[in-house]
Amino acid sequence: MRPYIVALFNQKGGISKTTTSTNLAVCLAAFGKTVLVVDLDSQGDSTKSLGIDSKIREGVFDLFINNVPVESVIRSTPYDGVWVLPSTYSLAGIEVKLSELQNSQRTLNAILANANLDCDYVVIDCPPALGILPINALAAAHAVIIPVTATPYANDGLLRTLPSIKYVQEGLNKSLLLQGVLFTIHDRNKTARRISDLIRSRLGGTVYRSQIPRDNMVIEAATAGLPVCIYAPRSAAAQAHLDFTEEFLNRHASIVAKAGETIAPHPAHDVALDRLLRWRGEIASAAGPATNAAGLRQQKSQLDRLLYGDRPLIERWHLGIIHFFIDNRLSLAMFLLLVLAGVIALLGASLEGLRRLSDIVGL
Ligand SMILES: Nc1ncnc2c1ncn2[C@@H]1O[C@H](COP(=O)(O)OP(=O)(O)OP(=O)(O)O)[C@@H](O)[C@H]1O
Ligand SMILES: [Mg+2]
Repeated sequence: MRPYIVALFNQKGGISKTTTSTNLAVCLAAFGKTVLVVDLDSQGDSTKSLGIDSKIREGVFDLFINNVPVESVIRSTPYDGVWVLPSTYSLAGIEVKLSELQNSQRTLNAILANANLDCDYVVIDCPPALGILPINALAAAHAVIIPVTATPYANDGLLRTLPSIKYVQEGLNKSLLLQGVLFTIHDRNKTARRISDLIRSRLGGTVYRSQIPRDNMVIEAATAGLPVCIYAPRSAAAQAHLDFTEEFLNRHASIVAKAGETIAPHPAHDVALDRLLRWRGEIASAAGPATNAAGLRQQKSQLDRLLYGDRPLIERWHLGIIHFFIDNRLSLAMFLLLVLAGVIALLGASLEGLRRLSDIVGL
C-alpha cells in the first residue's frame, strides 16, 4: 500500500513546523506506525532532531539534482519505525538549480512514487515561505497540516498559506486535502484565546481539538537535539503531541473510510507513552545523563569557532576569559568579591604601615 503523505506547511516561519513534524513522526511510531520524515529545509533542524549527523554527505538535494536513489540517502533513526530523508547544507541552493529544470514542481512526487516505500506515513517538514520545495511537498502530498501560533500575526500567515494550498489544489494536485489546522506554542492569555476563537469560528472543524501549549521543555529538548516527546515524554507539550497524533490518526481513518478502506487500529495512549519512555531510557543510557549540558556545550563551541576562529591567539584568550565570566556569573561575583577583599586588605595594611611610620617619625 502507498504511504499516506502529509506536508507540514505554513509560509510563516518559527511556528513549530519542524517541532510538529518530528514529534508527529516519533508519536506515530510510538503508536506502532512506520514513518519516513522528509526534511525539505536547508536548516536541517528535523534531521538533527532525529539524531542524524548534520555533516552527512548525501541528502534531499542529491535526490532532486543528482538522481541518487532514495535507498542510498535514507537514514534510520534511534526510534524503531522512523526513517529520514535528511537535509544537507547544499539544499539552500536548490531553488536556482530546480528553476532550470522542466516539470520541477513534481520532482518530489516522482521520487516518492518511484521509491517503492515500505512505510505507513511520509511526513514532510517544509521550509518557511513559498518556494519550489514547499510546492513540491504540496504536489506530492495527500494532505497538508497548517501549524499556527495564535499571535496577532497568525492571520497573516494563514492568509498567505491558504491561497498557496488552493493554487496547488487547482492545478498540480487536485486531490490535496487540508487535513487540519493545529494551534502550536499556545499561550493561555486573552489575546491568544481571542485569536484562536476567531480562527476556530471561521475554519470550524478543520482546526484540531488538541493544541500544543508553550512549554519550556520543547526548548530544552531542542538544545539536547531531541524531540520533546523523547526528551520529556510526560511534559505538557509531549502529552499534547500524543493527543494530536491520535486525532490525526482518527481523522485519517475517517478519510479512508469514505473510500471504503480501513487503516490498522492503533494501541491506546498509555501504550504509546510507554514506548516513548522506553526510547527515552535508551537514549539517556546511550548519551549519559548530561545530554542537555553536552548539547549546550557543543553549540557554544560551534558558535565561538564561527565568530572568533580566525582571530589571533591572544585575542581568543582574552575573549575566552570574558566569555568564561559571562557564562559563569557566580564565578564573576566571587572574583569581584576577592578583588574587593584584596583592595580592603591592601588599604588596611597601608594605613597600618602609615600609622607605624608616623609613630616612628614621632608625628
Ligand atoms: N510548544 C512549544 N513551546 C515552546 N517553544 C516551542 C514550542 N514549539 C516550538 N517551539 C520553539 O519555537 C522555535 C521554532 O520552532 P520550529 O523550529 O519548530 O518552527 P518552524 O516553523 O519549523 O521554523 P522555521 O520556519 O524556521 O522552519 C524553536 O526554538 C522551538 O524550540
Ligand atoms: Mg522548520
